[in-house]
Amino acid sequence: MDSSPLQNARYVYKPKLPAILRGPADRIGVVAGAPAEPATDRERLRSIFPLTYGKTRVDFASGANPSLGKKLTVGVILSGGPAPGGHNVIAGLFDGLKAGNRESRLYGFRGGPGGLVEDKFMEIDAALVDRYRNTGGFDLIGSGRTKIETPEQFAKALETAKRRKLDAVVVIGGDDSNTNAALLAEYFAEAGRKDPGTAPIAVVGVPKTIDGDLKNDAIETSFGFDTATKIYSELIGNIERDAASSRKYWHFIKLMGRSASHIALECAFQCRPNVTLISEEVEARSMSLRQIVDQIARSVVVRAEKGENFGVVLIPEGLIEFVPEVKLLIEEINDILATGEHEFKALSSFVDHKAFVLERLTEPSAQVYESLPRGIQEQLLWDRDPHGNVQVSRIETEKLLVEMVKARLADLASADAYRGKFDYQTHFFGYEGRCGFPSNFDADYCYSLGYTAFVLAASGLSGYLASVRNLAEGADKWAAGGVPLISMMNMERRHGADKPVIRKALVELEGVPFKKFAAQREEWAQSSDYRFPGPVQYFGPSEVVDTPTTTLVLEHAARAGKADGR
Ligand code: FBP
Repeated sequence: MDSSPLQNARYVYKPKLPAILRGPADRIGVVAGAPAEPATDRERLRSIFPLTYGKTRVDFASGANPSLGKKLTVGVILSGGPAPGGHNVIAGLFDGLKAGNRESRLYGFRGGPGGLVEDKFMEIDAALVDRYRNTGGFDLIGSGRTKIETPEQFAKALETAKRRKLDAVVVIGGDDSNTNAALLAEYFAEAGRKDPGTAPIAVVGVPKTIDGDLKNDAIETSFGFDTATKIYSELIGNIERDAASSRKYWHFIKLMGRSASHIALECAFQCRPNVTLISEEVEARSMSLRQIVDQIARSVVVRAEKGENFGVVLIPEGLIEFVPEVKLLIEEINDILATGEHEFKALSSFVDHKAFVLERLTEPSAQVYESLPRGIQEQLLWDRDPHGNVQVSRIETEKLLVEMVKARLADLASADAYRGKFDYQTHFFGYEGRCGFPSNFDADYCYSLGYTAFVLAASGLSGYLASVRNLAEGADKWAAGGVPLISMMNMERRHGADKPVIRKALVELEGVPFKKFAAQREEWAQSSDYRFPGPVQYFGPSEVVDTPTTTLVLEHAARAGKADGR
């Protein structure tokens, strides 16, 4: 492979580790913390996870831990959408294993959880890891979205684990993948209970997702969010400059992030666009599509009065799912598709699919469906992902909003309330941000998470998510440990049935980041005072290369009781 100069420079970058992970591998002690119970649905969850429910959090502290010197065989899986830093998790895990015992081995299961089920694996050795250190992507072993859910799949996963004599499986994934990790941990524990001859196999998760929605008091951010938002912010800043230079387009930019608007909110802090929609607010205020369109049109009109017929609108990917009437429609479609899957799939044309769904929708939802443009109607019927989610990245909300804003402005113009000129461009920034070279923050964080996963796995702590905290401080002050996966779970409706899932962390309207944004957005709606973050930097002064996201800094300050976020 012909590597670029940056690739070569990143290969030799040494990620910064928390002080506790820097010492000799057998001196990382594990201390039990408080019991960690889920916030809701405790009895249901206890009955689903009888063997793994009720564990305490664990923290690492200096102390003897002979388990870390054991010879281990560990399997690792990359699951779901790529996020910058995945390779560094593997590097941290590999280096931890080898620091513990040179004889330990790491297997990568190819193509996501399906690789464990089908026993498609490769051994990861030092030469291989070195070719992927500090680089983006998940291509070292590949990723996938297979959900391990049938009894056959669980049985095959166990067979693989036994065949490969695994001591642990590390699942690097988002909320759905880590839900799967919790189910696998319970299944492996049950196998051990039924057959005491089966050696224990720990399952450890690592919080991944650019969406930033896998977080709580023990997980301050999921990895990849930092880099992805920096990449999108660079692009948005460039577009803002183009808009202000050419002065002729409104740019409607849809941003990835699935249901949560964390990415849009962080990019808003970085770039100060004219309008940023926040899905969670749309839902909380029960905003209709018409009200959302009015919000955008207001900014267009005010700016046109100043001769500024240009601007930038950020639209979170999942917005459409949060507009109450569309949310209800999607829930109904989900149930229809789940219960009538075979019949629906036997139909071949969109006309037939539409008729099938319309017959089964309630009257109000049928009306909403009919009111949407054909493109969106089709997109709403496309396959759900294996976890039952609508594939929001494929719904062209930015185009829907452009059409609606255009119509609204035409009405305003005919009432003599708008005299501007509206021309537009639409964009979708998503895949561009998922495989960039990890920022220094993500490179350090991911390596530390991988090392943490090694300590948890070697200590036999199954059903835990690796947790590295205190992230707004320098890496030497970071704390490390594990949090029970079940403590983050609740029951939700998926594929027409109630399922245990890790609760998604959405933007909190009472949280400091949203409040800070809300206090500034009126000013941004009118002005062209854009902010240009520029590209991710890897070398240079610390404030340029190490600054974490504003969201992280604000949330950290709020936890520490500082109102201004610094
Ligand atoms: P996960 O990290 O939860 O796997 O999702 C990341 C993501 O990029 C979402 O933001 C997006 O909606 C989805 O993946 C796109 O999925 P796909 O890669 O299957 O097109």
